[in-house]
Amino acid sequence: MSVTIEHDSAVSTSLTAQRDASQTFPAPAPLPLPRDFYKQFLADGTQMKQNPIRSLEHYERQPGMLTLLAGKPNTSVFPLTSFQFTATSPENPSRQDQLSVTGALLAQSLQYCPTAGIPSLLEWLAGLQAYSHGRKKEGWRVTTGVGSQDLLYKATSAVINPGDYALIESPSYAGYIPVLTRLKCKIISIESDSEGIKPSSLKTVLENWPKSRPLPKLLYTVPYGCNPSGATTPTDRRREILALARKYNFLIFEDDPYYYLYYGKTPRPKSYFTLELEQPEVGRVVRFDSLSKTISGGLRIGFASGPETIIDAVDILSSISTLQASTFTQVIADTLLRHWGYAGFNAHAERAAAFYRRRRDLFECAMQKHLVGLAEWTTPDAGMFFWIKLLLADPTDPSAPAGDSTTVLQTALAHGVVVLPGVAFMPDGQKTPYIRASFSQLDDNMVEESVKRLASAILETRRQFRSVGRAKL
Ligand SMILES: Cc1ncc(COP(=O)(O)O)c(C=O)c1O
Repeated sequence: MSVTIEHDSAVSTSLTAQRDASQTFPAPAPLPLPRDFYKQFLADGTQMKQNPIRSLEHYERQPGMLTLLAGKPNTSVFPLTSFQFTATSPENPSRQDQLSVTGALLAQSLQYCPTAGIPSLLEWLAGLQAYSHGRKKEGWRVTTGVGSQDLLYKATSAVINPGDYALIESPSYAGYIPVLTRLKCKIISIESDSEGIKPSSLKTVLENWPKSRPLPKLLYTVPYGCNPSGATTPTDRRREILALARKYNFLIFEDDPYYYLYYGKTPRPKSYFTLELEQPEVGRVVRFDSLSKTISGGLRIGFASGPETIIDAVDILSSISTLQASTFTQVIADTLLRHWGYAGFNAHAERAAAFYRRRRDLFECAMQKHLVGLAEWTTPDAGMFFWIKLLLADPTDPSAPAGDSTTVLQTALAHGVVVLPGVAFMPDGQKTPYIRASFSQLDDNMVEESVKRLASAILETRRQFRSVGRAKL
């Protein structure tokens, strides 16, 4: 980002004649919102109690400190003496690099670690946010969790009291809706389309927000290759949403496991975490990343980046629940990521994204062959999902209701294909003709067969529809 500064005319004339009358300078860094700002967002005020052992653990790391604090087992009694693993080189996929964990690193991997994560991985992940999102030190930090799901649950718990309001794009990630309902949060759905969340819908909701109601505390969105809609929100929409967050004072929870699986033709839009740097102050975006889609879902490592006060609250919740993400898998991830460096990680992510782009093309080719007239869809630019509208209603009757995709499930199962009916992603549980099809798993040679089976299921549901009458759908 840069700003243009006009020269004073008297000064300009004293400068060389060729020199442009204007010059660009880097914009001043936006100020982080102060810690006190978040008091209004934290659930139960500041009453959250930390695990007393974990609250003292940082003293253990002070040079010269003798610790009698934690009940950590002595690693010398553990049977593992080393471990090795091999990993495909990002730059040269035919090469396998062997990495081994021994000595002090092994001992670290077998032991409990600080609540936020091992310092080396935290430092690498903070560097990744600088590398990928241009974020430096603007009052934010990173913490790790047992997958981003764990962090979403904790961050939402840190903010939402029963009866609070949250805004959520519709359709929305089926794993997040129950988080809000569990916390007795009042959910307000915001419409989305093939380009993701609609700022116009958000604006209408906020402009008509009843004065007697407290404003929503957060907006939840999956901005790249959304699960389930596949949509990637363009940058201008994101800017509008950030402006609304500032105007109506809510946090943005940017849940982004598919950021690195972007394969669109145009450059990847900027993240909310990057774009908030354009605002006068930063600290409204909490970003959730995951290693699940690029390194391994089994590692169970996610990371949240955001204002220190919110991340501190997440760590307090970790200190009384999971304690931390597995040190063992953190060491595996850290060893691999440090071996690769940021450019290596990026090269690996690009290969992963190219894999899904090819899968998408294969799946779409089969849909063009077998589903035209039976379904409609938009081509995703990221991630692993097609959000498919089934045309279940009688095509000869334009006034027929759109139908409910749950009615297809049993027939689809009978035809040997399982898909997820869209109702799972509707915040208010309303009927929808959409299904979510994930194209990540099937072998290439089974893709067309799966689509054929889906086509047969739609046709059979239509036949049933005609015979039992429209009222049932
Ligand atoms: C949108 C979204 N958020 C969060 C998650 C959870 O990911 P993790 O494996 O990091 O817990 C998923 C997993 O599919 C997801 O699709």
